[in-house]
Amino acid sequence: MRRGSIVALLGLAVIAGGVATAVALVPTWLPEDASQEAGRIAFTFWFVIAICIFIFAIVAAVMVYAVLRFRVQEDDFEDGPPIHGHTGLEITWTIIPFILVTSIAIVSAIVLSRNDAQAKDTLRVDVTAQQFTFTFSYPDAGNVTSPVLMLPKGRSVELYMRSLDVIHSVFVPQFSQKEDVVPGLVTQLHITPTRLGTFPLECTELCGLGHSLMRSQAVVMEPAAFDSWLKKQGKTAAPPSSTTTSTTSTTTTTSPSAAGLSVFNANGCSSCHTLSAANATGKVGPDLDNLVAYAKKANQPLEAFVHDSIVDPNAYIQPGYQKNVMPGTFGQSLTKSQLDAVVSFLVQSAQQSGNK
Ligand code: CUA
Repeated sequence: MRRGSIVALLGLAVIAGGVATAVALVPTWLPEDASQEAGRIAFTFWFVIAICIFIFAIVAAVMVYAVLRFRVQEDDFEDGPPIHGHTGLEITWTIIPFILVTSIAIVSAIVLSRNDAQAKDTLRVDVTAQQFTFTFSYPDAGNVTSPVLMLPKGRSVELYMRSLDVIHSVFVPQFSQKEDVVPGLVTQLHITPTRLGTFPLECTELCGLGHSLMRSQAVVMEPAAFDSWLKKQGKTAAPPSSTTTSTTSTTTTTSPSAAGLSVFNANGCSSCHTLSAANATGKVGPDLDNLVAYAKKANQPLEAFVHDSIVDPNAYIQPGYQKNVMPGTFGQSLTKSQLDAVVSFLVQSAQQSGNK
C-alpha cells in the first residue's frame, strides 16, 4: 500500500469521525442525570457511542476512498481480478468486533449489577399501578400513601411495584431506570437520587384509553425535609386498610369533603374525569360536574348512583362512553371510610355545581 493512500484514508477517517462526534456531542441527547444509576447508564451509553464512532470512521473512510480511487474508467470493460478471500483480513475483522462486543457486555453487566445493588438503609416504597394512575406508599412509615413519588436525596430507594389490572411501566428519564409493572408479579426498581427537583414519572406501556394521561411526578427532597413530610403525612393520613376495622369509624379530624378530595386525588380519578371541585380536567370518563343529570338519566338516587358507579362501573354506562375502561377494583382497594368520603364529596360537589 502506498504512503499516499494511507494518508488519504486517515484523512477521510478523521473527517468522518469528526462529523459523527459532533452529531453525538452537540445536541443534548440525554436529560441531565438525577441519580447515581443514570450516571452509570450514561457512561455505558458514551462507551458504546465511542466504539460506534471509531468503527463508523473506518468504514466511511474505506468506502469513500474506494468510490473515489477505484471508480471505473469510461472505456474499461474488463472484469476485476478474481480474489478468493484473505485469511489475515478475515481474522482481523473477526477479532476486533469480538473484543469490542465482549467489552460492551462486560461494562453493561457491571453497570446493571451495581445499579440494582441496594444499600444497607434502603428505603422501601410500594408502587401500585392501575388504569390510569400510580399510588406510592411507604410501608416503613405506617403506610403513608401519596399520588407523587417523594424521595430523599442521596438515599438508596427500592420500588416494589404491583399492578391491579394490566401491564404498566414506570420510567423517570432523569433517573435512567425503567421497569414494567406486571399483574401477578412484584417487580423491583432501584434508584439513588442525587439531585433535588421535580421530575416527570410516566407510564411507558400502552395500557388503555388513558395511557397518555398516566403520569405522575418524582420529587427529590433534602433528607430532613423528606422525614418531616413523612411524619406530617403519617399524622393526617386515614388509618391504613390493614389495621383493625374498629378504628375506621373514628377516622380523622379533617372535614369530610377534604377527606373525599384526598381520596379522589390519591386514586388518580382526575386522570380520567373532569371535576371543578378538584380542579380535574380529565376527558377519558364522564364529566363529574354533570352527576346530577347522569343520575336522573339512570333513574337512580344521586348517592346510590355515585356509590354503585365507583364499586361496579359497568352497571351503568353513560351514553358515549365504553364499558371496562374504568377499573372495577375500587370496591376492594378503597376502605369503607375512604369510599364513603369520596361518595359524599362527589355528591356534595355535584349538588353545588347543579345549583349554579
Ligand atoms: Cu399505564 Cu400506560
